Order: sequence, then C-alpha cells, then structure tokens
Amino acid sequence: MIKAIVHADKEWGIGRGNDMMFSLPKDMKFFRETTVGHTVVMGGNTLRSFPGAKPLKNRVNIVLSRGQVRDDCIIVRDYDALKKEMKRRENEEIYVIGGGAVYKELLPYCDEVLVTKVDAIGGAEVFFPNLDENPNFVCISESEPQDDNGYRIRFTTYRNTNKQSL
Ligand SMILES: NC(=O)c1ccc[n+]([C@@H]2O[C@H](COP(=O)([O-])OP(=O)(O)OC[C@H]3O[C@@H](n4cnc5c(N)ncnc54)[C@H](OP(=O)(O)O)[C@@H]3O)[C@@H](O)[C@H]2O)c1
Repeated sequence: MIKAIVHADKEWGIGRGNDMMFSLPKDMKFFRETTVGHTVVMGGNTLRSFPGAKPLKNRVNIVLSRGQVRDDCIIVRDYDALKKEMKRRENEEIYVIGGGAVYKELLPYCDEVLVTKVDAIGGAEVFFPNLDENPNFVCISESEPQDDNGYRIRFTTYRNTNKQSL
C-alpha cells in the first residue's frame, strides 16, 4: 500500500524557503505515529529541510537525489530506480512524504493521500496538486476541525480511484 502524507494550506500550499509554513504539533504527532515502523520516500530537498538534514528515526528512509552521497539512508538517483525500490516493497506500507516534486511524480501510484488541511494561507512557494480538482481522487473521510497551535486543522483522506501500477 502506497500513501502520500502531507499538510496543506487553503491553496494546497505545502512549503516555503525549503521549510514548512506552520508549526503543527498535533499534525507532527499524527505524522510520526502513522509513519513509524514503515518506509518513507522523499526528495533531496525534504531531507535537507529536516533538523541536521538527518533521516527520520525508526523508519526506512528512501531519498531521491542526484547529488547526495550518504550511508544513513537509501539513495536512489532517478525515478526509475525509485519506482523499482518501491515496487520491491509494495506489500509493505510506504509513505510518500514530500516534497512538491516527489508528490507530483508519485501521486498516480498512491492508493490514498492523507491530507491535513490547515485553514490558513501560508504564502507557499511549493504546492501539492489540488485533489479537489482531480477527478481520480475522492475525499473519503474528514475529521471535525480542531485547534493545532492556533491553527484550525482537519485530517482528511483521499482515495485514488485510478491508481497506476509502479
Ligand atoms: N507540508 C508538508 O507536508 C511537506 C512535506 C514535505 C516537504 N514539504 C516542503 O516541500 C518543500 C520541498 O519540496 P521540493 O519540491 O522543493 O523538493 P523535494 O521534492 O523534496 O526534492 C527535490 C529534490 O529531489 C531530487 N530530484 C528531483 N527530481 C529528480 C530526478 N528526476 N532525479 C533525481 N533526483 C531528483 C533532487 O535532489 P538533490 O538536489 O539532492 O539532487 C531535487 O533537488 C519544502 O518547502 C518542504 O518543507 C512540505
């Protein structure tokens, strides 16, 4: 099962200055609890955006990067290699965790997208594809709004009705 996990503002904005736009402890907790023990897939910029540019603990980290050389995660050099690596693990839970470039390329292969919607506008430079305008995606669940560090957030799940094979 392949899922993308993301938080997005009202305009589907997800980042600015190679960083997140909001500090959301509840969403961070949800992200950690959902992904721990599983495989996470990300682009080189997202890895560089983490504290100390370190991979996430207690998860298998697969990183798409042309340039980075490191032995603390699995580096793949192009999308073909990334898709092969994901296909090998398709019976496990794989989470696509960003950023913009990687979400866009891998969206057709995701079974579901877990979107935390933030009721704000963060002035994003990087965006997630608008799933409400994508006929392949249907919203199958939406939580009640709740407060997260002064922001109103909702946890939603979208299902891909036209999933492509890797
Ligand atoms: N809101 C959220 O939930 C969320 C989640 C994750 C990230 N973000 C945000 O998203 C932003 C980063 O997104 P982004 O689109 O700039 O970057 P990204 O998708 O994280 O990574 C792009 C990088 O991936 C590698 N790459 C891309 N295409 C490639 C290809 N065809 N072959 C080989 N390598 C390739 C390159 O890495 P190298 O440069 O290493 O070669 C490239 O610089 C940040 O602002 C981050 O905070 C938000």
